[in-house]
Amino acid sequence: MDMQPENWSGTAVHPVGLVIRQKDPNNLEMPFDQLDGFITPAELFYIRSHFPTPQLDPATYRLAIAGAVRSELRLSYADIRTMPSRTCIATLECAGNGRVFLSPPAPGAQWQLGAVGNAEWTGVPLSVVLERAGLADDVCEIVLEGADRGIPKEEPKPPGPISYVRSIPRTRAIESDVLIAYQMNGRDLTPDHGYPLRAIVPGHYGMASVKWLTSIVATTRSFQGYWQTSDYAYWDNSAGTPIRRPLAEMKLKSQIARPRMYEILQPDRPYTIFGAAWAGGTDVAEIWISLDGGASWVQGDFLDPINRNAWRRWKYDWITPTRPGRYTLLARARGADQRTQPDGHNPNFGSYVIDHPLPIEVFVNAP
Ligand code: MTE
Repeated sequence: MDMQPENWSGTAVHPVGLVIRQKDPNNLEMPFDQLDGFITPAELFYIRSHFPTPQLDPATYRLAIAGAVRSELRLSYADIRTMPSRTCIATLECAGNGRVFLSPPAPGAQWQLGAVGNAEWTGVPLSVVLERAGLADDVCEIVLEGADRGIPKEEPKPPGPISYVRSIPRTRAIESDVLIAYQMNGRDLTPDHGYPLRAIVPGHYGMASVKWLTSIVATTRSFQGYWQTSDYAYWDNSAGTPIRRPLAEMKLKSQIARPRMYEILQPDRPYTIFGAAWAGGTDVAEIWISLDGGASWVQGDFLDPINRNAWRRWKYDWITPTRPGRYTLLARARGADQRTQPDGHNPNFGSYVIDHPLPIEVFVNAP
């Protein structure tokens, strides 16, 4: 008998699901050891939502474009679907991915390795809509607002409910790969991933890719909203006085998908260590693996070519040690800009930007 897993409607489903980090609103991560293809299937793609998923009806839905523009626009979902479209592949990583590795523990959802995924996004370039509206010369940022609302979980909390709003610099907003997306991997967005429309800002941490997009406002002053001053911000000390700046581009990072934490391996056997590496603002150029907790490093091989803002899967064909014991594996990427991942977490990023090599401990059995 065919033992295909089935869902209630009788169609075959992917055998694994997501791991709950917070329920209500949905915060679910991919079991990263399930990493397989270059593209993450939608069913395995992490969900990070601050408020309950809004139910939006595409028939009545309107996207408003306002602020410092020559003509304000109100576009229907059908309008967007008939405009020139573009498809691009982009890795989204939540800025808090890997938080469980921080010591002492940091507040917030205790993401392991799975708040990251790589998908193919289709939509209208934001630049097309901005051109149609006509940006004023002194516009410096584009503010993107979602339909979801609520009171944030983390202190300091604002005095009442707020929506999810974030800005991106004008210079980034007008690049042709920034999308008002309606499809993920060739299918309409699911409600959790932003149906009917969401922003996709390739190369930036996931927080920039505003879901359930309802309003786009061109502004002539830097936007100081909650989600880029209080949350999703860091301390920049470069000018002498610490100031809050919004998180933006993803830092160079690599992760081991297999072996899993505390996996038990047989001695003196071939084992392919497998993972992925990504970056915003540069390309991933090299991958180095340590099999001895960072004392020495060997170079791994990429499975994917360079594709700006998409991850590169990599592997290293290992012969497991003959000596039984506990081994710490690490992966460290080098960027085309010659930078490598740092040794440790930079506290100026608080509970975000966990971009240092994350240790995976394994046990090798006695023969
Ligand atoms: N957009 C809205 N409107 N509300 C949100 O809570 N979460 C952001 C971003 N866009 C969020 C949002 C964060 S923090 C991330 S990491 C990504 O969406 C996650 O996108 P996904 O749930 O499709 O993986």
